[in-house]
Amino acid sequence: MIKTTMAVAATTAVAVAVSGVMWYQKLNRKKDGNAKLARAEEMVAELERTCASPLERLRQLADAMEVEMHAGLALEGGSRLKMLLTYVDSLPTGDEEGLFYALDLGGTNFRVLRVQLGGRENRIVNKDAKEISIPPHIMVGSSGELFGFIASELAKFVATEGDKFQVFDGRQRELGFTFSFPVRQSSIASGTLIKWTKGFSIEDAVGADVVAELTAAMDKQGLDMRVAALINDTVGTLAGGRYYDEDVTVAVILGTGTNAAYVERASNIPKWHGLLPKSGEMVINMEWGNFKSSHLPITEFDRALDEESLNPGEQIYEKLISGMYLGDIVRRVLLKMAEEAELFGDTVPSKLRAPFILRSHDISSMHHDISPDLEVVAAKLKENIGVIDSTFETRKMVVQVCDIITRRAAQLAAAGIAGVLKKLGMDPSSKNNHKRVVAIDGALFEHNRVFRNCLERSLSQVLGEEIPFEVTHANDGSGVGAALIAASHSQYNRIGEL
Ligand code: BGC
Repeated sequence: MIKTTMAVAATTAVAVAVSGVMWYQKLNRKKDGNAKLARAEEMVAELERTCASPLERLRQLADAMEVEMHAGLALEGGSRLKMLLTYVDSLPTGDEEGLFYALDLGGTNFRVLRVQLGGRENRIVNKDAKEISIPPHIMVGSSGELFGFIASELAKFVATEGDKFQVFDGRQRELGFTFSFPVRQSSIASGTLIKWTKGFSIEDAVGADVVAELTAAMDKQGLDMRVAALINDTVGTLAGGRYYDEDVTVAVILGTGTNAAYVERASNIPKWHGLLPKSGEMVINMEWGNFKSSHLPITEFDRALDEESLNPGEQIYEKLISGMYLGDIVRRVLLKMAEEAELFGDTVPSKLRAPFILRSHDISSMHHDISPDLEVVAAKLKENIGVIDSTFETRKMVVQVCDIITRRAAQLAAAGIAGVLKKLGMDPSSKNNHKRVVAIDGALFEHNRVFRNCLERSLSQVLGEEIPFEVTHANDGSGVGAALIAASHSQYNRIGEL
């Protein structure tokens, strides 16, 4: 009996001790968990602080952009902004007629298009387009391979033209070539590639005339087509915007990359020594992705991204703003939080170490998740970085990180646009009360509502009443815009002029 009582007492004592240890461990875990949570919260707060772009800073950035624009126009190499001459001295009027092709190369996909233009009354009568993805090895291969691949796809597309499209009798087909990389042009239909951006790296194409390369590749395919115009996507967006609204004077791309173009008075371009165009104007491709200023809120994550990129030290503004990079900035922040605050539990998900595993559309969908449990965030974390069980607290923090990085991008883009508008001042010729109309295209602007709203709000705040402006979404400028510029620079227009 005594034995039994002692055994029971011993068992109870052990049980009490075990549960005491468990309770203690649980308490410790809780304490530890709280400490980790606190650390994660601290890291988010720190990110918010380093990314902050208050109004004063945005105004300084707008001023810096304006100063750099003047410097880039004054002298070749006078600024990090290349302020490239485009030789586009007239934008579409709406009177363009005929069949024109366009080729749009600027990201991981390229597009071929044909557009039947029907003049002022009928505008775009027919349009056909095809999107083709560029195999990754071609993006970092040779110039011959890239242009050979493009020309062969173009030839296949031309072969499917059909009766809906009519080229004027006896005329050669003409093409507008949108090539969305920095190019130094020497005429409307020639230009040499200065450098690649957005993950392309084809050594032997740098310094080559991209129109000559394309023409040679088309000849090899037996394709009888002339490149009538070589343009940047911003210039196409400007043309596409102007086709529908005469007050469009600025175009901005906010997509995989970022850039702006605008109409400048030829007399404001001291570095241009050629003949003044009849219109007295010239479209300038700013290549603003390369803008840099001490006012930019650059964090340790941006610095690391830049150092590990294909073009370190270059395109700093683009790396803070554009769709190609936003996901990877977020990934870098989450990785640090996983390492230092066990954001995703006690092991760091290995996928989080893979560059570019998060894309800007992932950020956008996590950001727009309005479900009470943040289910989309949970699904994205699972699908992209292999986190099976994320807590609600974790998901909330992930959304906060997406928010901080996206808002910073939108605010910085707004500051850039404000700089361009300040440089231009009011538009006395505008039909719209001196308003400047800015045409914007690109997936980031089109599909990320938080980004778009924040950009529009910040732009109004930075400019105040100073310059009246309006922002429009210009759809597919880089495609249709190229066909329109090919039409306004067709070889057959010149015959009419003689
Ligand atoms: C290129 C620009 C282009 C922009 C948007 C940048 O990376 O340098 O030429 O306009 O991306 O596509």
